[in-house]
Amino acid sequence: MRPGSASDVVLKMEHVTKVYEGDPPFRALDDISLEIRRGEIISIIGPSGSGKSTLLHLLGCLDKPSGGEIFLDGQPVSKMDDNGLARARRETIGFVFQAFNLAPTLNVFQNVELPLIIRGLPPEARRPLVDKHLAVVGLSDKARNMTSQISGGQKQRVAVARSLVTSPKILLADEPTGNLDSKSSDEVIQFIMGLCKERAITVIFVTHDPRIAGQTERQIRILDGKIESDTITKPAIRKHKPGGA
Ligand SMILES: Nc1ncnc2c1ncn2[C@@H]1O[C@H](COP(=O)(O)OP(=O)(O)O)[C@@H](O)[C@H]1O
Ligand SMILES: [Mg+2]
Repeated sequence: MRPGSASDVVLKMEHVTKVYEGDPPFRALDDISLEIRRGEIISIIGPSGSGKSTLLHLLGCLDKPSGGEIFLDGQPVSKMDDNGLARARRETIGFVFQAFNLAPTLNVFQNVELPLIIRGLPPEARRPLVDKHLAVVGLSDKARNMTSQISGGQKQRVAVARSLVTSPKILLADEPTGNLDSKSSDEVIQFIMGLCKERAITVIFVTHDPRIAGQTERQIRILDGKIESDTITKPAIRKHKPGGA
């Protein structure tokens, strides 16, 4: 990539559509174009059924668009085969979901360790990374607990540690506090935003909660599969290079 070009764009969509098969087929996303930069903290908001999760799944390369193109780190996703896509996803993107998705047969430490095992890191490299991330989310003392022995807010903090332990460039979170009370919810959101600012990780929260959206610097509002508005309320946390086209 050319130096000083649009290299701080980590995700880009050009005229993306998503049509779900069926009778009749359903157009869940309709001509979406957007650019997402390094270190931006973004919320995707909109009513239930407006296409937020579909958009996040496409941004996370969990699914392919029916039309248009998605660029992950400048690379067109349509040109990647399934292996290439899985690799790009593994190396670039972390996910946090509403339902935590923790493995019930593993303890807290092992849940955070799992993505590092999948990456083939040896145990001596895994341990300090897991310890560090458990400390960061304030759960060092729960490392040996089973996930059934911690609270909802703590579970989501485990999920956050697990998603960040591989140092992704982008963190995607789909209603990450949908199962939490408002105090735990604020705590988790503050954790995610603080950590990601520090590391210049791009974060995209899908939420229908205006309180969460109000804390992010950029709000993309979706309605009926279209971008209704895209607002920047505070300067994004990144080093901007003016005139770098
Ligand atoms: N696999 C699917 N097959 C058919 N329709 C779907 C599928 N997934 C989602 N939809 C439809 O697409 C629309 C957008 O869904 P979704 O992206 O989940 O919305 P949101 O996350 O904003 O609630 C909804 O009308 C939903 O019913
Ligand atoms: Mg959804």
